[in-house]
Amino acid sequence: MAGVFIVFEGGDGVGKSTQAELLARWLTGQGHEVVLTFEPGDTRAGAVMRRIVLDPETGDLSPRAETLLYAADKAHHVYEVVLPALERGAVVISDRYVDSLLAYQGAGRELDADRIESIARWATGYLLPDLTVLLDLDPARGVAGIERPDRLEGAGMALHQRAREQFLALAARDPEHYLVLPARTDREQIAAAVRERVASILSSPTGTLS
Ligand SMILES: Nc1ncnc2c1ncn2[C@@H]1O[C@H](COP(=O)(O)OP(=O)(O)OP(=O)(O)O)[C@@H](O)[C@H]1O
Ligand SMILES: [Mg+2]
Repeated sequence: MAGVFIVFEGGDGVGKSTQAELLARWLTGQGHEVVLTFEPGDTRAGAVMRRIVLDPETGDLSPRAETLLYAADKAHHVYEVVLPALERGAVVISDRYVDSLLAYQGAGRELDADRIESIARWATGYLLPDLTVLLDLDPARGVAGIERPDRLEGAGMALHQRAREQFLALAARDPEHYLVLPARTDREQIAAAVRERVASILSSPTGTLS
């Protein structure tokens, strides 16, 4: 694969979009083709799936149905946006990816973690990020401050605590492909740490760490 795939993960309101944008701007300035994208919902079909999953109007949704909708969004997103961009050599920056599914549906909804992971990996064609930046924050400081929570944000603090633990566990499992940073610290310092790590990936002989 010619391109480089960078993902931002973490809880709601931790600064993922802010940092994804800062990184995109910097890389663009360096002359790279950058595709800045997000999950769920950054395709036409994905936007429909996102609305079903996040709209409080949806009401009760079985955790398995919720999982499969997210997985379907990811499958289509990889197929339509991520892979084509990587194949032409772009740097793809995605605001959320598979780890969010493992954290919220696997750990958060307390479904079978191995099963969810195999569904998510199959859905995404076993495409792994070169780097996942995890912005870590106690959900009591992040989610709790949201004024009009969507279905997931309103799902209860215990779910968000389990999700945070799962994000950290995934990072601990594969430190070579993760950068864990405390969220809500100085945003320029966070951005600089991200740039340093991404620069080392871009300058490595294969273009990736692995
Ligand atoms: N390092 C930081 N320190 C303090 N506040 C920050 C920092 N980075 C971003 N913010 C602020 O926190 C809020 C959430 O940031 P942002 O939208 O980037 O987070 P997010 O993780 O993308 O959230 P969401 O999960 O809702 O998409 C914004 O008001 C943003 O300005
Ligand atoms: Mg965001």
